[in-house]
Amino acid sequence: MAGTKTFTMIKPDAFGAGNSGAIIRMIEEAGFEIRAMKLTRMSEKLAGSFYAVHKERPFYQDLVKYMSSGPIIAMILEKSNAVEDFRTLIGATDPAKAAEGTVRKLFATSIEANAIHGSDSDENADIEGNFFFSQLERFN
Ligand code: CMP
Repeated sequence: MAGTKTFTMIKPDAFGAGNSGAIIRMIEEAGFEIRAMKLTRMSEKLAGSFYAVHKERPFYQDLVKYMSSGPIIAMILEKSNAVEDFRTLIGATDPAKAAEGTVRKLFATSIEANAIHGSDSDENADIEGNFFFSQLERFN
């Protein structure tokens, strides 16, 4: 059975452009409940370890620099079928390929500065939520 939690980050481009409020509104209107939320800024070291799975990809260094270039908003969200439904809401990684009305279609500026992250599996939702939030902050 699909899990009920996912993890997201509003990325530095979207935060810096003042789009956080509009994005959070879209998330809530789509039926996700915010279970934890944090405004923070990753060091290059932290961004590097968060994206360690992409270490061998050509875009890794740029991604690490970009993700540590400004504040992000991390959230744990709850909804039935959370991971899949959230990825539908945010759209394809490349905004040029994202469906109309998705977060990335509306707010992303490039494949790298693509406004928002969404976990790709229940297992990664757990790992990523635990990366940002302590047990005390994951009180639900
Ligand atoms: P996300 O899906 O959150 O996690 C991996 C990130 O790497 C992705 O969003 C983009 O920000 C970035 N990314 C993925 N593919 C590319 C690419 N081809 N070029 C540059 N950045 C990418």
